[in-house]
Amino acid sequence: MARKKIIAGNWKMNKTPSEAVALINELKPLVANDDVDVVFCVPAIDIIPAMEAAEGSNICIGAENMYFEESGAYTGEISPAMLTDVGVKYVVLGHSERREYFAETSETVNKKMLKAYEHGITPIMCCGETLEQREQGVTMDFIRQQVKVGFLGITADQAKTAVIAYEPIWAIGTGKVATTEQAQEVCAGIRACIAEIYDDATAEAIRIQYGGSVSAGSAPELFAQADIDGGLVGGAALKPDFGKIVNYK
Ligand code: PGA
Repeated sequence: MARKKIIAGNWKMNKTPSEAVALINELKPLVANDDVDVVFCVPAIDIIPAMEAAEGSNICIGAENMYFEESGAYTGEISPAMLTDVGVKYVVLGHSERREYFAETSETVNKKMLKAYEHGITPIMCCGETLEQREQGVTMDFIRQQVKVGFLGITADQAKTAVIAYEPIWAIGTGKVATTEQAQEVCAGIRACIAEIYDDATAEAIRIQYGGSVSAGSAPELFAQADIDGGLVGGAALKPDFGKIVNYK
């Protein structure tokens, strides 16, 4: 069975609640495409107004992060139940910016993955190498480690519904998109890693996105690759261009 493409915007720390509503109203008609899953992952404070603005459209609102405890003395964190209470279905976990600036590790990402599934939230788990790792030739070793640790304790049935975003760090926000061959090669490697951990059926079902300077220009070729099931889009998700990315065909 063909995998449905999933194209997600990652807004990062951009847009106030009122700006979020304005942007969703602007993008709503442009991203109308039922052939793909369209997700806007927005800052926590934007989630509720974004949901209201997106109501009746094909846009699904997701979160950019989540904590791995149920509740308690974790000042500043957002719990899974807070997200599900307002209808959030997707959460980005382990983005490289969180790993770099907020001390996330594959171990904490794994705890968040387990918690997300406990609450029925689909994780979009990010992985990706630095430029140095690519130049040292250890890209796939590094990413396999991120994937293996991230999925510890996750069952095959759960993993089938997961989304993995391959985002080479050197391509994020740099305008330097990976070549189609580089992106396809790593996404295929991630799928092979999932087949090793689980089985072929799980590897065939899981959706793997490419992220890193995706634009309206690069999306069609990237998304046509056998192992690339859509994209995680930063900068271009805040512009009308996102409509072109969603309607890449
Ligand atoms: P970018 O960000 O599209 O701006 O490179 C992608 C991401 O970080 O998810």
